[in-house]
Amino acid sequence: MNLPKLHSITKKILVALLGGFLLIFLLFHATANLFILRHDGGAWYGAFCHFMGTNWLVKAFEIVLLGAIALHILLTLWLALTNRLARPVRYRQAQKSTTHTTSKLMVWTGILIFVCLAFHFYDFYLVKLGVVKGEYMVKTEKLQSEEMMNLVQFSQQMGMSPEDIVNEMEANAMEYGESDEEMRDYIDGLRGQLVVLDIVQRAQMEGDITEDMQWIRHLTYEERQTLKKVLPESKPEPDFYYMAREKFQVWHIVLGYLVFFVIVFLHMRHAFPSAFQTLGLNNYKYNNIIEVLGRLYAWVVCLMFAVVPILVYFGL
Ligand code: HEM
Repeated sequence: MNLPKLHSITKKILVALLGGFLLIFLLFHATANLFILRHDGGAWYGAFCHFMGTNWLVKAFEIVLLGAIALHILLTLWLALTNRLARPVRYRQAQKSTTHTTSKLMVWTGILIFVCLAFHFYDFYLVKLGVVKGEYMVKTEKLQSEEMMNLVQFSQQMGMSPEDIVNEMEANAMEYGESDEEMRDYIDGLRGQLVVLDIVQRAQMEGDITEDMQWIRHLTYEERQTLKKVLPESKPEPDFYYMAREKFQVWHIVLGYLVFFVIVFLHMRHAFPSAFQTLGLNNYKYNNIIEVLGRLYAWVVCLMFAVVPILVYFGL
């Protein structure tokens, strides 16, 4: 088999650089997740996710990040494959060197992380993309348009429900033969406002509005779809705070995530010193320090990840 030519040291350096970038991302991600532990109804975590989901620089970063993950995986598999092809006949006696065992462990833990990431994306990221159903929230002000205010005010003046007003307007339009496109669009727009009004009233009745009245929460997937259709500029967002807190009430989800973090730990522990070695930043004098720092970094990041599902599960 002929694979495209790229010197293996170039591939290794790229893998190390991308790995370093991912290590930094994980510290950032684990730190941000700690906001889930705040009992503030999601004010901080929601604001953080809102910023992450709407800032164009962050959106560009997301593409770079996903690209970095894909490239990191592809290059590692490519390296493993070229190494294997370079020696089609296996050693008669299995190698016992620690380097060999470590790099094997890296490939296997890497593959497992990829599998866990698929589940993790199903839980959260794909909800943002609208591929998987979740819970949503929307800025209250985005639902309060002038048309809605006028409709509510007018219906109050007339002592009728907003729905009856719209029905009557439609009936009048038909009666006077005003069935041109402009009128139909106007009535359709009002019907859309009725749907939005329903969502707001439902949220008010069920107490799904944040204390500061800034957000309407607990929207269903169907409500999100409706809003996207009748009021596209309202841009409902996933309610990751609530979703994470809901998921981490379930023991097997918590257990699954803890297994995920153990695998990430095993991968990170070796990734850190390996990256230093590949980039030529190690030195026999500092090797031990780099090794210890690698372990410490992996422990800190993975414990930061782990405290979230554990504490939420125990209601803390
Ligand atoms: C308690 C643990 C974790 C929680 C609660 C969590 C939560 C989340 C959430 C809510 C998102 C969507 C954010 C958004 O798109 O705005 C996300 C995305 C992501 N997570 Fe996690 N995560 C956890 C652990 C991990 C771990 C261990 C990894 C990697 C090994 C990871 C990698 C990613 C990646 C690559 C994305 C997509 C990029 C992004 O949206 O930032 N997560 N996570």
